[in-house]
Amino acid sequence: MKIIAINGSHTGKRGYTHFLIEKLFSGAKKQGADCEEITLAELKINICKGCSVCNKEKHLLKCIYEEKDDVAMIFNKMREADIIIYATPVYVFNMSGLMKIFIDRINATGNSNEFNLSESGLFFHHISKDIYSKPFVTLICHDNFENEMSKNIVSYFRTFSKFMDAPQAGTIIRRSGKLTGHGKDAEKEKQYPKISESYKAIELAGKELVTTGKISKKTQKTASQDIIPVPFFSILKNFSIFKKKAIEKIKSN
Ligand SMILES: Cc1cc2nc3c(=O)[nH]c(=O)nc-3n(C[C@H](O)[C@H](O)[C@H](O)COP(=O)(O)O)c2cc1C
Repeated sequence: MKIIAINGSHTGKRGYTHFLIEKLFSGAKKQGADCEEITLAELKINICKGCSVCNKEKHLLKCIYEEKDDVAMIFNKMREADIIIYATPVYVFNMSGLMKIFIDRINATGNSNEFNLSESGLFFHHISKDIYSKPFVTLICHDNFENEMSKNIVSYFRTFSKFMDAPQAGTIIRRSGKLTGHGKDAEKEKQYPKISESYKAIELAGKELVTTGKISKKTQKTASQDIIPVPFFSILKNFSIFKKKAIEKIKSN
């Protein structure tokens, strides 16, 4: 099995997104998977300029940047993959700019003059299924502890799945990254012991992807769990009064 992770973090291999990809890969590699990270920050990705040349007869499905940047190379790797991981930090309530710039380049791979119905019954144009209609995982990280913070990305990839006929194989959201030292601070990890459980679950997620083709609900939940050491935090964090208590706890740590 070939798994590729598209890392949309602007900090590339120095960042927390990379750290989490590595966790997931370590579980998958132990099951014999061939894993490769595509670090967008290290590559040349031009911004689609909306010229629509790719949808004119003469240059149909040929982007003006095809030989000028790395997107065609990435699409080829996506063609070879069995599962794709879209990994992005939250940047101001959404996916990173780099991830969105990359995904926008999809436009040149579909013929917008040819209409189809998606498997979920949505009206759409032709798409290059060999690139985007693969089972995929969304891996999100951010610093805040609110569930609301990642909702736009989760919703985006749900819509993506429906229009692109791409089955969702799992979603992992790693909140409170800064509190736990972004995977680089063993002392902070001691203050937040649940983060180790989460990392183990992310490794397990990698294993499950290879053995079952998807991540179980239980593993997604453990990997995405809250790590603030306040009992019943996930429930209590819905109430402002307890949030204040949690903030005091965080400040005292
Ligand atoms: C431009 C920018 C915007 C950010 N916006 C948010 C945000 O809205 N919510 C949040 O919780 N964290 C936000 N963060 C923090 C990152 O999501 C977090 O530090 C993440 O772990 C960074 O991943 P990386 O280390 O792979 O770059 C932002 C960081 C940057 C650089």
